[in-house]
This record gives sequence, structure tokens and C-alpha cells, in this order.
Amino acid sequence: MKATATAHTNIALIKYWGKRNESLILPTNSSLSLTLDGFRTTTTVDFRDELSQDTFTLNDEIISGEQYNRVTAFLDLIRRSAGKNNLYAAVQSINEVPTAAGFASSASGFAALAAAGSKSIGLQVTDQELSRLTRQGSGSACRSIYGGFAEWKMGEQADGSDSFAVPVAPTEHWDIRVAAVILSDTMKKVSSREGMKRTVETSPFYSGWIDSIPSDMEQMKKGIANRDFEKVGKIAEANCLKMHATTLGANPPFTYWLDTTLAVMQTVRSMRDKGIAAYFTIDAGPNVKVLYLPEDEKNVEKTLRETPGVTDVILSKSGQGVTYY
Ligand code: DP6
Repeated sequence: MKATATAHTNIALIKYWGKRNESLILPTNSSLSLTLDGFRTTTTVDFRDELSQDTFTLNDEIISGEQYNRVTAFLDLIRRSAGKNNLYAAVQSINEVPTAAGFASSASGFAALAAAGSKSIGLQVTDQELSRLTRQGSGSACRSIYGGFAEWKMGEQADGSDSFAVPVAPTEHWDIRVAAVILSDTMKKVSSREGMKRTVETSPFYSGWIDSIPSDMEQMKKGIANRDFEKVGKIAEANCLKMHATTLGANPPFTYWLDTTLAVMQTVRSMRDKGIAAYFTIDAGPNVKVLYLPEDEKNVEKTLRETPGVTDVILSKSGQGVTYY
């Protein structure tokens, strides 16, 4: 049966940074994110008897190599769950995540693939089961099953059975906005996978990061429940800075920041000095995401665009979870 699903990417306000099991993708800390409406992937999966191998097209281009291997390895998990190890699929994805926006398309990509793939093969899954499956494609993707705010509970079991995301508050709970600030410079990328591995293995600051998570998580959830923007923004910004601090202690040391990243961080701080509530967060790359409230949208966008080195600003609202067609 052919099945189609759409999923959106998400931005972590409490970051996932480190694995305790690399093959099962089990994290060393719980994380929390906001799903974004601006960036999505729509995937159709068609498991068919007559196919002798999987095929994968992305934006109408036939994909091979590493990207194809990640997709087929993920389909293997779906086949195994369904007990249909010799059934192959045609996968077609349309990605509306601008790569320049510095959002990994893997979050929306694996969430849409997991949803369409399990439906196509005939698996009946709950959201939790879908999130647990999605986690094994890319960790951050397990949070994209839900709209609004979602928490990925790290879990304790060695087999990962209790490591999945749960909803924290739906999209309708709070109209909070995110500006993705695109920078002109590029640099050689340390992938999030490689970056977190190196940090876990070598950074003396890593234990400090882990110790700080439970209180950040508790406060963040209170802030979301009370729609306390200052609280949510402050914790998100500080949590991001702590994550990035661990990379400076790694061996060899590295940073995702450019001079323009620092310039945008400074712009956000000076907006606050002028009374505009805006806070930044940064993932495993140089681009900055800015949290703000709807009433400040015009001001925030204009100020960000005026910062030297900024080439584009893409605005986004809180988005929906996985949708089937
Ligand atoms: C910095 O989910 O891309 O964006 O599980 O290895 O696929 P893998 O990593 P990935 O890492 C995301 C790291 C982050 C923080 C976050 O999204 O929580």
C-alpha cells in the first residue's frame, strides 16, 4: 500500500548533545524542542512485492551513496518490525527545508519516512512507537512526530524501549515565533553526529553539561506551561551556550561559530537592551535562530536583516506534527 506523510523540522530549546549508544541512537540527556511550520518534508513510501531493492528519490533526483544507505538501513528497521524482510520500497521525498537555512533536513526527513514507511507496510503504531522508531534514523527527528513543544525523554533501558518523545504543549498553546538567520560565510562542517561524539569522548566540560540538564528541563517546562517568554528565552539561550562551550573543550577543539554568528548574538542582546524580547539559539552550525513574540516580528526581522553578514532571514511559526494523506 502506498502511503504519504508530511513532517516538519524542529528547533531544540534544550539541546540533545551526546549519545550513550550510537547504533540505537540513545542520548545522554533529555531534550526539548519546538516544531516549526516553515520547513517540511513530504514522503511517499510504496512497499511492493515486485521490487528487488529500495529506490529513493529526493526532489525528483535519484539518490545513491551515503544518503541512500541511511534510508535503506532505516527501512530495514521497518521491515524487521513488520516481519517482512524481503519486501522493498520505492521512496519519494520532497524536501522544503532550504539547506541554506541551517536546519538539518534529517529531522523532518526521518519523521516523514518513519510515518509513511510504517503505514505503507501495514504497521499500526502509536505516536510513542513512531517516535521510538524515528529516533533510530536521527535522534532529533523523534521530536518532530508532535506539533508545538515536545520532549525527548532519554530513557534508562539499554534497548531504548523507553527513549522516545512525548508532547509537552500543542501548537495552539502559544504563538511563539522563530527567525532563522542565514549567514554568508561558510566553513568546513563538523556534523552534529561527529561533533557530539568527539565532545562526549574528550571534553572535560561534558559532565557539567549533563549535570545542568534536569534543572533546565524543569524550568523550561514551567516557562512553557505559564507562557513565560522571558523564562523560556533565557533558559534556551543559556542551554545553547553551554552546549557550544563543550566543543571548545574537545580534543581537537572546535566551534560552530563564525564572527558573524557572534555579531547576530550581539544584535539579539542589544534588541533586549532596547526592550524587545528576543533570544537566540544555535545548532551544530554557524546560523542563529531567534525566538520572539508576534508583536515584535517587524522590528526583529528588520534589525536582524541590518546586521552585517546576514544574507537572509526566514520567519517561522510553531508547526504541526506528522500528518498523513
Ligand atoms: C545540535 O539529530 O542531527 O541539533 O542523532 O546523530 O542524527 P543524530 O544527530 P542529530 O543531532 C542534532 C543536534 C542538535 C541539537 C538538537 O537538535 O537537539
